[in-house]
Amino acid sequence: MKINNNWLWLGAAVLAGVGITYLTGGNDKPSVDVNVPNLSASGQEGFALFTSNCSACHGQYAGGTSNGPPLIHKVYEPNHHGDVAFQRAARFGVRAHHWRFGNMPPVKGIKQADVTKIVAFVRELQRANGIY
Ligand code: HEC
Repeated sequence: MKINNNWLWLGAAVLAGVGITYLTGGNDKPSVDVNVPNLSASGQEGFALFTSNCSACHGQYAGGTSNGPPLIHKVYEPNHHGDVAFQRAARFGVRAHHWRFGNMPPVKGIKQADVTKIVAFVRELQRANGIY
């Protein structure tokens, strides 16, 4: 049987479409809706620090924005990105590797103790949202 050329072209076009969607990262900038639990005292301090230092990119409750990824995400659970990864990110910045948002610049002037409180805040949100 002779395969109709039109079907071949259609197939090629569909495959190309899928490829382009993949390459241009159709869903590579996800943001998530976050349930906000009652925060502990350190979680609240962390929230204030997160708001002034991180939320412009990571979102008010770390659900992500068009400038940065959600931290309330499996990728950032403690086994994948332990607390040290947060300290390192804040101090040295992050070279883009998981997403297509670009690099995270170092957060100037932030103290280690501040990041510890921010981590407490993020972990409380992660737990409340079933991340771990
Ligand atoms: C100017 C935007 C911006 C700001 C401000 C920002 N981030 Fe980020 N952050 C990013 C981007 C973009 C990435 C994702 C990089 C990638 O592709 O993996 C990221 C990634 C991270 C990661 C993952 C690190 C890793 O090892 O993969 C952590 C943790 C993080 N940010 C924490 C913070 C904290 C805490 C603050 C505030 C103290 C903060 N970020 C402020 C943009 C930002």
